[in-house]
Amino acid sequence: MANEPANATASTIGPVILLGPPGAGKGTQARKIVDHYGIPQISTGDLLRDNVARGTELGIEAKAIMARGELVPDELMYGIVASRLRECDCERGFVLDGFPRTAAQAGWLDAFLEKEVFDKSENTTNAAAEKCPPVVIQLLVDYNQLLLRLTGRRSCPTCGRVYNIHLQPPLVDELCDLDGSKLTIRDDDRREVIAGRLEAYETQTRAVADYYRVQRRLVAVNADRPVEDVTAQIFGIIDLHTQEQHKRDSTVRMDASKL
Ligand code: AP5
Repeated sequence: MANEPANATASTIGPVILLGPPGAGKGTQARKIVDHYGIPQISTGDLLRDNVARGTELGIEAKAIMARGELVPDELMYGIVASRLRECDCERGFVLDGFPRTAAQAGWLDAFLEKEVFDKSENTTNAAAEKCPPVVIQLLVDYNQLLLRLTGRRSCPTCGRVYNIHLQPPLVDELCDLDGSKLTIRDDDRREVIAGRLEAYETQTRAVADYYRVQRRLVAVNADRPVEDVTAQIFGIIDLHTQEQHKRDSTVRMDASKL
């Protein structure tokens, strides 16, 4: 069943890309995928916020850009994404949340996966199984619902749990259900910044969906539904994608053994 915890740790899932505007639920759904498939979540927003908090060179450069709701330049993104994807916990697959965000980033990612993931797999025993192309899932949400989700988002600074005061409120106002910490508001969830983020999505990130649509890799999901319903559909898409991929791999292996 799609919603039962899967013991999927044995099989390769490959890259899963979640696309969608700010507040579409990419982070929420990415965490469900992590729990279910045992692959890591790579959130470029989280990576950048971590750099800002640590005051790294990248963080110092990114801070003002993020505060305006604009996109950090592509060249600054490639380094952090490449080094994170090279970590060994990504070998079975990973879920990308917030990357790629421009058509140039999408092209860069394809080239990176081709060179560093697919080439590397030639040297392993299950080479074919690891040549899993990305499954790209686009989360579609109505504009007014996005505003409600972004203005209502609260996070626990201790455990990271995300709430929404309008849609998924904590049991006690502004306090985390799990550890009682005072919930915080993300810096860029202020109304004036939200407008800039939604505009950046329209002008720069919509092109990413077109990029994958042309490649016939884009699967759209109505994400204007309860979290669990969206999750169930996403699991179904990932399961189908990996099954088809494994089927193709075994055909290739059988054909190769006949040579
Ligand atoms: P990032 O952190 O990626 O933010 P974002 O894309 O704006 O997305 P959000 O995290 O706001 O939303 P989400 O889709 O994850 O929704 P969530 O699950 O939290 O990026 C921040 C900034 O970093 C960017 O503006 C940019 O400056 C920079 N950046 C990052 N990546 C970059 C890149 N690749 N290139 C350049 N710059 C980059 O949910 C939102 C709320 O809704 C929550 O309260 C949640 O509880 C609720 N919710 C979720 N799903 C549902 C549901 N189905 N029903 C009801 N409520 C729901």
